Order: sequence, then structure tokens, then C-alpha cells
Amino acid sequence: MEVIIRPDANAAARLAARLIARAVEVKPELVLGLATGRTMERVYDELAALHERSRLDFSRCTTFNLDEYIGLPRTSPYSYHAYMQRHLFNRVNFSPARTHLPDGMAADLDAECRHYEQLIRDAGGIDLQLLGIGSDGHIGFNEPLSALRSRTRQKALTPSTLAANAPYCGGDVTQMPRRAITMGVGTILEARHCLMLVTGASKADILARAVEGPITAMVTATALQLHPHCQVIVDEEAAVSLQGKAYYRWIFENEPEWAPYRAAQA
Ligand code: PGA
Repeated sequence: MEVIIRPDANAAARLAARLIARAVEVKPELVLGLATGRTMERVYDELAALHERSRLDFSRCTTFNLDEYIGLPRTSPYSYHAYMQRHLFNRVNFSPARTHLPDGMAADLDAECRHYEQLIRDAGGIDLQLLGIGSDGHIGFNEPLSALRSRTRQKALTPSTLAANAPYCGGDVTQMPRRAITMGVGTILEARHCLMLVTGASKADILARAVEGPITAMVTATALQLHPHCQVIVDEEAAVSLQGKAYYRWIFENEPEWAPYRAAQA
């Protein structure tokens, strides 16, 4: 795992977007795992700008989102289908047939979960998986005690997740979907490259537990410590509780792989 600290949330999102852009340039048929949430909005703004300014071409990419609420029609403004249309898909040139989210309205939800796993396998697996982290340490909607080898399945959301997401679902917790379909932790760990973005002071403590704490199903993001190629991009506010900050800074300032990004962001 590598932790990269950038000065603020915009710089962190810009770096995440540039890493995604680079991956798409190297492999135009990239299979890209996508995430939702406030943190990702800046990344998608950057990708839209790169598409606009530099003709970044997503037309041959395939995408798989991490999760979707159960019981919300995709036309609901609070669905993750709608989120993705609004923040990314309407602004760049993905082929709609190659963008995927779980169907939270499926008549047979377990069959839908198995089908989603099959679609990922049929696409050859995920090359690059973008991730946020919940205040309870979840990746996707893998809430505390999710098995670290879990697959795509239904999951009940924790009260803290419901409270965190209520403002984006009309504001009333009692009206929120209580369950979601989510890729499992095991599904996520099979991505060839994981890229987690964490910003803001409210994530500082959970970030430290996720990155530097012991691996535990109580904080499913800790499973990323087992991943052979995981990069965690954070801003200064999120980084305050990290023990290894000096080393993480040294990596970004000295490792050759980061040179193009240092220059671009100077
Ligand atoms: P957020 O969500 O970006 O809205 O904080 C992150 C998550 O729950 O994964």
C-alpha cells in the first residue's frame, strides 16, 4: 500500500483523476470500477474536464460500480444510477452498454448479485477500482463485520451510513433504503489496482485505522492492506492522524513513478 498526501481535497481528486486518465491512455479498453459519494464528485469533475480539454476517450472502457440501493428505481434522483449519470456518464463518452451498476430493483436480488459477479468475470476482471471510505470504515457498502472474502451480495446499511447519506437521499433517514447490493470485499480485492481517495477532517480517524491499524472485519477498508497494488490518496486534513506521514511524503517527493505528477502539480 502507498499513501500519497496532497495539500487539499482538490489536489487529491486531481491526482486520482490523472491516475485514472493515465490508465485509460495506456489501456483504452480499461475495466474501471467506480464509486459514488461526495468525495468522488471532484474526481468526476476532473475527468469531465480532461475529456473536454484533452479529448480523454472513454469510449472503449467498461465500468462497474461498487453498489446500488435496493428498492430505489434507477430513475430516482437518489439512486446511484442517477448519481453516475449526473456526475460522470452524461459528461463523458462511455458507451452506455458497457456501464454497469447492480440492479436494486431486480425481482431476484441474489440472482442479480451472482449475475453481477459473472459480468465482471466476463469483462476479464477489474483493472482499476476507485474507492472511497465510509465513516464506519466501509468500502462499497461492506459494513462492519462483512467477511473479508465476501462477494457481491445484499447488505443491510448501518445507522451511521444511513445518517451520512440521508442528506443526499432527500434528508429523511426514515425514507432511506435500508439495504443495498454491494460488491464484496473479496470482489474488490480481485481488482488489479485499487485507488482509494479520502479527504476531509471527518475521515482522519477512520483513515488511520484503515491504513495503519490491524486488519479487521470491523473496518473493511483494512483488507486493502492485503492488496498488492493499492494506492491511497488523501488530503492534509484527512492525514492528520497518520503515524507514517513523513515517510509517505518522502515517497511522493522521491519515487520516480511520481515525477510526472509532482511536476504537473507544482
Ligand atoms: P463520501 O462517501 O464520499 O460521501 O464520504 C464515501 C463512502 O461512503 O464510501
